[in-house]
Amino acid sequence: MTEHFQVHGGARLAGAVDVVGAKNSVLKLMAAALLAEGTTTLTNCPEILDVPLMGEVLRSLGCEVTIEADTVTITTPADLNHHADSASMGKLRASVCVLGPLVGRCRRAVVALPGGDAIGSRPLDMHQNGLRQLGAHSEIEHGCVVAEAEGLHGAQIWLDFPSVGATENILMAAVLADGTTVIDNAAREPEIVDLCTMLLQMGGKIEGAGTSTLTVHGVDALQPTEHRVIGDRIVGATWAFAAAMTRGDVTVRGVDPHHLDLVLEKLRTAGADVTILEGNAFRVVQRDRPTAVDFVTLPYPGFATDLQPFAIALTSIADGTSMITENLFEARFRFIEEMIRIGADARTDGHHAVVRGVARLSSAPVWASDIRAGVGLVLAGLCADGVTEVWDVFHIDRGYPGLVENLVNLGADVRRVAAAPERS
Ligand code: UD1
Repeated sequence: MTEHFQVHGGARLAGAVDVVGAKNSVLKLMAAALLAEGTTTLTNCPEILDVPLMGEVLRSLGCEVTIEADTVTITTPADLNHHADSASMGKLRASVCVLGPLVGRCRRAVVALPGGDAIGSRPLDMHQNGLRQLGAHSEIEHGCVVAEAEGLHGAQIWLDFPSVGATENILMAAVLADGTTVIDNAAREPEIVDLCTMLLQMGGKIEGAGTSTLTVHGVDALQPTEHRVIGDRIVGATWAFAAAMTRGDVTVRGVDPHHLDLVLEKLRTAGADVTILEGNAFRVVQRDRPTAVDFVTLPYPGFATDLQPFAIALTSIADGTSMITENLFEARFRFIEEMIRIGADARTDGHHAVVRGVARLSSAPVWASDIRAGVGLVLAGLCADGVTEVWDVFHIDRGYPGLVENLVNLGADVRRVAAAPERS
């Protein structure tokens, strides 16, 4: 038996919550430390399981890694091991972002295919094509991505789709290539900007961070640096949805509200009062039942696919009928099966889900299938009659440090129930 959360429905969340550093940034910044010999320090790191798991990946490549509270220190040797095996790689998706730095530093990489959330097919063709255009040979062999280059040279690269991971890997190889690389149709996520900021501090030469065209002038070597991870916009948005769903009043601190412009506008459409506050904070107040609103997931600055479960959870209790369109990861709609279990009126057809809002959900045991789906179920449980049990909460722990404590501080009745001891 694993641990589960007991979520008592009915509370209106009220108070303030601090958001930690971004999971989808810190793991890439840890990989970027491979690019420079010496000691790199990252602060404002979230205390989530993926950080020590990424630490294991870096240790297997020859780095020394220490993690103390929100600070991660990585000492990278002159000679890196270029083989990241499945023992360390299999546990998290972001481990694939060691590929670009290894090709940049060592000119070769053998990287076991990564693990991660079950949210749908996640091919690496754009990562490999980008590296090929920089001069590397790349194949999948025996469950590993193998990439080798005699030399890396700048190139003009057009991505078929603004993939976050492919942009990061190509960028981190190109910073140490000869000549200039232009990545067109690059991803524009704030986490990409954070990576560019750190690479610039390390001596990289990059123009266009935050736009669809990244121009990278290769340099011979980079220096280690100290860098503060940006606040987690996905966690920040989670609290915004939680406030709107529970007709609460929540101030969210530690995340740039401009990273959430579209999200906050959607919540205003659903009836929330949203105020942008000084110093990376905002407040969401919802007085009445949310009204129906449509969502379409797209690369940034579109509505993030990671927030799609919260859109479903919100619209399931909204007044009216909403349409949710998922354009990135088809399997994220599996979440709807669990929502139906607790009384949502929803059905899917391909990329679309139609959700007819109900006045109240009805508690039931439900299972988290990934990080965001798990938290979506917790938010839904807050709006259900009775006590909802959310199982497989190890998914949630990968992305939301102290979720239960934060919810309790905001007035919710949520408990973590320890695993039953094994019978001998
Ligand atoms: C990252 C985030 C994830 C987020 C996603 C989209 C991390 C650790 N994860 O994932 O939380 O949901 O961005 O914002 O940062 N694709 C291909 N070929 C490729 C690469 C991607 O077809 O070579 C497709 C994917 O299947 C998907 C789309 O492109 O449909 C976007 O994927 P991508 O942006 O690469 O997501 P990740 O970097 O894996």
